[in-house]
Amino acid sequence: MIKKTIQLVTIIWMMGMLHAQAQLNKNYSKQRKWWKEAVVYQLYPRSFKDSDGDGVGDLKGITEKLNYLKSLGVDVVWLNPIYSSPNDDNGYDISDYRNIMKEFGTMKDFDQMLEGMHERGMRLVMDLVVNHSSDEHEWFRQARSSRDSKYRNYYHWWPEEKGTPPYRYSLFDVNHDAWKYDTLTRSYYLHYFSRKQPDLNWSNPDLRKEVYDIMKFWADKGVDGFRMDAFQFCVKDTSFPVFEGLNASNFVQFYAMVPPIHDYLQEMHKEVYAKYNLMSVAEGAGRNMQDAHDLVDTQRKELNMAYAFDAVDVSSSPDYSMLKLKKTFTKWDKEFQNDGWLSIFMGNHDQSRVIDRIGNPSEQYREASAKLISTFLLTMRGTPYIYNGDEIGMTNAGFKDISEFKDIQTINEYKYQQSQGGDLAAFMQKNIKYSRDNSRTPFQWNDGDNAGFSTSQPWIRVGNSYKEINLQNQENNPESCVNYFRQMVKFRKDNKVLVYGDYTVVDENNPNIYAYTRIEGNHKLLVVLNFSDVTSQVTIPKAMRVSTVEINNLPTKPTITNNTIALLPWQAVIYKLN
Ligand code: GLC
Repeated sequence: MIKKTIQLVTIIWMMGMLHAQAQLNKNYSKQRKWWKEAVVYQLYPRSFKDSDGDGVGDLKGITEKLNYLKSLGVDVVWLNPIYSSPNDDNGYDISDYRNIMKEFGTMKDFDQMLEGMHERGMRLVMDLVVNHSSDEHEWFRQARSSRDSKYRNYYHWWPEEKGTPPYRYSLFDVNHDAWKYDTLTRSYYLHYFSRKQPDLNWSNPDLRKEVYDIMKFWADKGVDGFRMDAFQFCVKDTSFPVFEGLNASNFVQFYAMVPPIHDYLQEMHKEVYAKYNLMSVAEGAGRNMQDAHDLVDTQRKELNMAYAFDAVDVSSSPDYSMLKLKKTFTKWDKEFQNDGWLSIFMGNHDQSRVIDRIGNPSEQYREASAKLISTFLLTMRGTPYIYNGDEIGMTNAGFKDISEFKDIQTINEYKYQQSQGGDLAAFMQKNIKYSRDNSRTPFQWNDGDNAGFSTSQPWIRVGNSYKEINLQNQENNPESCVNYFRQMVKFRKDNKVLVYGDYTVVDENNPNIYAYTRIEGNHKLLVVLNFSDVTSQVTIPKAMRVSTVEINNLPTKPTITNNTIALLPWQAVIYKLN
């Protein structure tokens, strides 16, 4: 009898424990964290503000504009790379990880900028580029000099006597070939990106330690997090097997998340992240949902949030539709509703301007659609990332000729197409719309010379729209894109339901209107967005009771008849629900 009772008590206790654990698991996405509540502003230093008149943006320029950043209400600034670099890929080829690129200023300028951010309650996230270094980095200079160099094993080499290495696709190479023959040591080295970006060898513990030391160097200076560039590709199977069928459109399936990448991330977490209060996000989220979860699920102690490409890929495909975008966001939200955390973004320095992909850049709808996009990004579950210039609704540059482009990817792909007898007219058409140079043009501060970015000719020409779209025009207009953006950031801050609340899509198959609720306890909001040039309707469930209009990007209130809401073209409205 006693034995039976003890058994029963044990079973009940175990069930209780399992239930408690299950509850805990269920609530991971509700756990409060500063990096979940943050709004991230991505700043492209080369094109933000030039303080010394050389046509290139710099750190002092950023410091001059800190009050502007503060006025937006953003919490975190993510800076694209500012380290020493020969600039083959605009700073993504680093020759010294502990120094500042000459064109951008000095370490003193950096310290002042960081202090200025912290004084204003903003945090700084640095881009950490460690899938590859520059070929001008001291490690590579040494590694290349002799097969016996102590740094040889920091990179991947294939000795000539083994024959031609198994094909690897390169994203930026003029021949799409990731192996480059180096005469001095009669070996090939691996470069997934450009020839000047040799891939680092993560299976070497000495290299990993160097990276952790670099991270600690910046964390000790006070930076608040890292965005880890191309990190999903950093581990290679160093036996270099043949990849049957590898090509430009499927390389992620072969390159991403190669074991033991998660062991290295856990090691990095233990060595660096656990010791500081840092935010961490890696570019790319692997090949599938499981990969993404493995990167960011709470108990795994790897990274804070995933940065998945599916949605931007949908937006830059020729058969884009809002319905596809909606399905993509909804699928990802569902996957991460219990654990893990997502970045919410539609623009960055590798994409053309967001308004040209999912909005309408015409004069008639530019402002409304820019505001709608801000509403969207700031009301989804996940940490929103806003790319500089999108808050004022900057549009694509308007480049026409290949000579106007500066980006290595665009230029080398052009050369590749040329060498293959490809359709150059089609290539140009595609790149005029989608080249990443479109979002790398100078920030449009005013309608004066060089859009107020610099006193001399900028490194890349100013976008065509600067006379109409610029900050100065917008500052004093309460109805402008930038002031709407400020209002939306504040609204997100005041309504934590937008961070932690459940997301449920309404009228899922509506092709024009993207509508969803965000609900946590008694806090209930309905977001309704008309992603189209025509007045459109959405019918909400009978039981849903809308009360006040909290946000509206147009002066006219939508009409509601029997739970059917009619929205004007590109109208965005947020209702409180009873
Ligand atoms: C990432 C960066 C991109 C860069 C590449 C190589 O994709 O976002 O700008 O060219 O990595 O570092």
